[in-house]
Amino acid sequence: MNKFISIKTSMPGPKSKKIDEKRSKYVPSILGSLSPCYIDSGKGALIKDVDGNTFIDFTGGWGCLIVGHAHPRIVNAVKDQAEKYLHTDFTAVPYEPFVQLASRLSIFAPGKSEKKVAFFNCGAEAVENAVKIARGYTKRKAVVVFEGAFHGRTLLTMTMTHQAIPYKCNFGPFAPGIYRVPYPTDYHPSIKIEDFESKLLSYIDPKEIAAFVIEPIQGEGGFRVPSDGFLEELKRISEKYNILFVADEIQSGMGRTGKMFAIENWGIEPDIICAGKSIAAGLPLSAVIAKKEIIDSLPNNSIGGTYVGNPVACRAGIEVLNIIQDEKLLERAKYLGEKIRKRFLKMRDKHEIIGDVRGIGAMMAMEFVKNRETRAPASEETSRIVKECLSHGLLVAGAGINHNVIRMLLPLVITDEQLDEGLDVLENAVAKVNGGRS
Ligand SMILES: Cc1ncc(COP(=O)(O)O)c(C=O)c1O
Repeated sequence: MNKFISIKTSMPGPKSKKIDEKRSKYVPSILGSLSPCYIDSGKGALIKDVDGNTFIDFTGGWGCLIVGHAHPRIVNAVKDQAEKYLHTDFTAVPYEPFVQLASRLSIFAPGKSEKKVAFFNCGAEAVENAVKIARGYTKRKAVVVFEGAFHGRTLLTMTMTHQAIPYKCNFGPFAPGIYRVPYPTDYHPSIKIEDFESKLLSYIDPKEIAAFVIEPIQGEGGFRVPSDGFLEELKRISEKYNILFVADEIQSGMGRTGKMFAIENWGIEPDIICAGKSIAAGLPLSAVIAKKEIIDSLPNNSIGGTYVGNPVACRAGIEVLNIIQDEKLLERAKYLGEKIRKRFLKMRDKHEIIGDVRGIGAMMAMEFVKNRETRAPASEETSRIVKECLSHGLLVAGAGINHNVIRMLLPLVITDEQLDEGLDVLENAVAKVNGGRS
């Protein structure tokens, strides 16, 4: 018996259907949605649709809602700011929320070096600018990225992203100077860590490399956690050849792993961190947090943009940091993660289709396989699990180059009861699809 989920209509219901008719006329079909139902309102980890159905949301706007839907402190900060001023452009008339959020984020960033913060509008823009800063500082052109990476959809970040379909189909030619190397994980050990340096040197002269850009835990790639020692080895190589270490924390940052930034789990201080998604509770904001001497080496006005660091988004960002501290969301991420891990491992004992359970903190995932020996991806089955969840009122996110991973992007403010109810739906869906396997 569900306490939170309530599905009263066909899916989609009549009101959603009506909006959808207009959508099919005016919105390009390439912009698909996971849910066929249109949202009316959200609260914490719950979404109510326009037909009155209630869903548990494990997608959190693809990882933007660590503090949940419509947190009252975010709503108040946004309202208050909107009544004062919406926009000036910081380079025309500066405002304090920009400076305040920059100072707070620079203090949260790991390591002893002094940091400075530049704001942008989305994750891809932050990564683009991190690369510009790295190239500008090192005067080198090459950028090394990793198998399974996702960095965005602009020309440069699409090039840096691994997956060809759908992200790159017929969208080339791609940006030059990007080199892709293996990203070893325990479940997919693509290279021995001790062989990594020689493999890298076989591709490119390290004196030409401006930066390694790496997700400390891959997001879209399926919450892949690098094998023990890999990030440390990368840091060692980056110091040996004066290559900048750029951590793309757009998905893994802002507390999801139980640390403010995932890279802290390895005790590494990156030269540059890219943050986004949950940074401003769903408002468009991203940040590049860089060592002071690196970012201050660039000429004035060489980075920026009309809307970057919008005051409403900065106010929301400050409140996100306050909520993380006051509601102890880092501890909550660890607690939720342990609960999820235990449940996923129990599920793996029962359901052959689950090949791997992995993650750090609340950044947990399951990889689905056709066969535990071969680890062949169960892609079609994973998509059936996601659909099955949806039809029972749970929004859950798929991931992975082979589309065979389900990842937890839930708001950290989710209650224990809501989490349990959502996990029950997920387990039933896995059982149904696993049972129906040939
Ligand atoms: C690690 C990572 N980098 C960059 C991006 C791109 O962010 P955006 O979609 O905000 O441009 C994403 C988005 O999923 C991401 O997960």
